[in-house]
Amino acid sequence: MSDNKEPEDAAEDTTPSGSATLPLRPPCERLPCHKSSVCSRSYFVVVMVFFHVYIINVIALLFYVHYSSGQEDASRSHDAPRSDHQRPESRRPPSKPEFLRDVSLTRVEGIRVGHVQKVSLVPNKVHEMRTLSMKPLLFEIPGFLSEDECRIVMQLAQLKGLMESQLMVQDGQEELAKELNLSPEEIFNLLDINQDGQLQLHEILTHSRVRDGIWLTPENLREIYAGLKADKDGNGLLSLEEFRLLSSDAFQRFLLQRGVKRSQLVRNSRHTWLYQGKGAHQVLQDIKARVIRLTRLPPSLVDLSEPLQVVRYEEGGHYHAHHDSGPVYPETACTHTRLAANTSTPFETSCRYITVLFYLNSVEGGGETAFPVADNRTYDEVSLIQNDVDLLDTRRHCDKSNLRVKPTKGTAVFWYNYLSDGRGWVGEQDEYALHGGCMVTHGTKWVANKWINIDPDYQRQARYQQLVSQQLEDEDDDDDDLTLDPDTHTSDIHQDL
Ligand code: OGA
Ligand code: CA
Ligand code: FE2
Repeated sequence: MSDNKEPEDAAEDTTPSGSATLPLRPPCERLPCHKSSVCSRSYFVVVMVFFHVYIINVIALLFYVHYSSGQEDASRSHDAPRSDHQRPESRRPPSKPEFLRDVSLTRVEGIRVGHVQKVSLVPNKVHEMRTLSMKPLLFEIPGFLSEDECRIVMQLAQLKGLMESQLMVQDGQEELAKELNLSPEEIFNLLDINQDGQLQLHEILTHSRVRDGIWLTPENLREIYAGLKADKDGNGLLSLEEFRLLSSDAFQRFLLQRGVKRSQLVRNSRHTWLYQGKGAHQVLQDIKARVIRLTRLPPSLVDLSEPLQVVRYEEGGHYHAHHDSGPVYPETACTHTRLAANTSTPFETSCRYITVLFYLNSVEGGGETAFPVADNRTYDEVSLIQNDVDLLDTRRHCDKSNLRVKPTKGTAVFWYNYLSDGRGWVGEQDEYALHGGCMVTHGTKWVANKWINIDPDYQRQARYQQLVSQQLEDEDDDDDDLTLDPDTHTSDIHQDL
């Protein structure tokens, strides 16, 4: 009800110069005046009447403001955690319950790079947590997992079986383009990110990396241009005229003909998922409990997050620089809360507030986790891909990354993929959280990811949690409030999905 605050204060402000002071200190004591005229009894009565009418008016105004704007404004001013574009959500009809925000997410403080803080995660042991960077907020905790725990997680993953993290060239994109019946001009326009009427190398590279998962280098692209005789004037740029002469799937066909190697994919690894809820191996449950202690987040949020992802890179494996989470746009919805999204949203993205990455073995050569722009003074997306140095390329340019973490068995690193909104909830995506896995030059690399999913849209996260808790209540008679329950039945939930 902060709306009411100002008028109240204003009313109070009028009091000292009004009735409270008049009987004690008549104006004559302060102002030289003629007793017979302005200081008379009738003058005093007139002033008192004026003053009372004024007070009554102010009170009436306060009542009017309070009742006419109703609960809608009251809940919006106080509790709706969203930025402007999501405001309309809080104005929906009362059929959708509005949730008061009673949770404030803890963010571990980094203090400064190199700062070490002690953390108590398991009985009879104190861990040391070192700040590796402030942008993104990134920490390292040696000995987070014991040797046995690392071994058991790797064995469980092997038992379950790992699958290719990325499949070769996906089809189906052409059909989409044909269905939309886009003209070459329209496609050109989509690709021309900076809208300068030319297609720069990095515009084509970004596109093929995002759309096809194929990691072309500037040299690859020049080769393709030469093969297709696309860049007639040889200036490294494609004009609309040059682009028009290419058929819509020329690049794709060229690549398929030439063949795409695993090393040319965005990600070259295998992985599997391990559930951590009730019934899971004790080690997996212990790890989850430790993550809750480490991040100091409400247990239910961790419980409802993705299972543990275990990843294996063979020699030559890599994962080029990427974000674990998507940016916050009004038209995007988080994958994990899609059940609670009101409308079918055109874009879905992973909303991974925190990444906890565990190194399950020490790698003989390479395999560092690189953060190309950690603690840069400014973030400049365009300069990430230059002709000679592509900072996103973890096969060739890891050595130029601002920060690299060496994989050491049992060590955990964790970082925030989003900033805070300043009010205890998730804010914008942190662009500095860009990272990748450098090429493994000797041996094999095993890691595990624990992602903590939180929707930057508080209402949607709350609605999702309520939906899940209702589902659980239907299953058994446990009517605990999910948002406060420290141990929910996540295993059931994940198995159901
Ligand atoms: C990932 C990732 C980094 C690494 O799996 O999302 O970024 O060092 N891994 O393997
Ligand atoms: Ca351009
Ligand atoms: Fe990642």
